[in-house]
Amino acid sequence: MSEEKRTKIILDCDPGHDDAVAIMLAAGSPKIELLGITTESGNQTLEKTTRNALNVLQWIGRGDIPVYVGCQGPMVREKMTAADIHGETGLDGPVFPPLELKPQKKHAVQYIIDTLMAGSGDITMVTTGPMTNLGMAIRLEPRIVEKIERIVLMGGSYQHGNVTPAAEFNILCDPEAAHVCFSCGRPVYMMGLDITRQVLCTPDVVERMKKIDNCAGRLFVDLMAHFCRTQKEIFGLPGGPLHDPCTLVWLIAPDVITTKPMYSTIDISHGESYGRTNCDFFSYLHKPQNVRVAYAVDVDGYWDVIEEELRRYS
Ligand code: RIB
Ligand code: CA
Repeated sequence: MSEEKRTKIILDCDPGHDDAVAIMLAAGSPKIELLGITTESGNQTLEKTTRNALNVLQWIGRGDIPVYVGCQGPMVREKMTAADIHGETGLDGPVFPPLELKPQKKHAVQYIIDTLMAGSGDITMVTTGPMTNLGMAIRLEPRIVEKIERIVLMGGSYQHGNVTPAAEFNILCDPEAAHVCFSCGRPVYMMGLDITRQVLCTPDVVERMKKIDNCAGRLFVDLMAHFCRTQKEIFGLPGGPLHDPCTLVWLIAPDVITTKPMYSTIDISHGESYGRTNCDFFSYLHKPQNVRVAYAVDVDGYWDVIEEELRRYS
């Protein structure tokens, strides 16, 4: 039987507890070819998110995956972080051995440009943090747009935000960058809070993953010990919403998440809805449906994929 074609991706992230789980899925799944990781500030400062990405790769034995350091902050607005959720390090909880891995010297934006320009249009851009790096790459070298197979992001919400009533964290961190990406003309798949708030890592899920006696299972449990605690303290949730892996789960098992084409724009005005993803769920405006927005998730199927992918590690 011919080997199933692997999806080539660049994972742009701001680790971040849920980003760390997304990295484990991207690095371990036989359906994914992880070309490289690019980091940006978001959950914590750029230095910390980069260190966290390297620590996760070293922990799972994937030091071969290159990490490129991205933009220090957003295109226009002032920088913001989520230390309340992810802690002072951005990945509070797990204790890692001394870090030996180093990031690449090339800037992440240049890496994205060079990799896409050298590609044949078969690379998926996966973003699980602010979209600064991809937005800057598109502005710096517009020719990459036709080389992007699709953009799959964790971010936004066609309903409520999680930082303001209107805006979700990744989009609000850099609305202008998100606007550049949403309006670039390539297929965009948005895994927003509408579904990520349904995949709550409750104590029974943690107990289930605790049975995976390998490096990935152990890291998952240590990550969730912190992440679930802060999510309960701040949002009163019974479990941490495992936002970012929704991007990888959709790529690995697309039937688990259902999307709907919607005309979607980013509010870059400077009112109370700044950073909102305005998604035309009912097609009131009859405008081109540029984004496929996730609106339903098979929660049992989601955790089955998470467990299956974490079990692949030794
Ligand atoms: O709003 C959730 C998103 O913000 C996730 O990507 C989380 O990691 C934070 O970056
Ligand atoms: Ca993230």
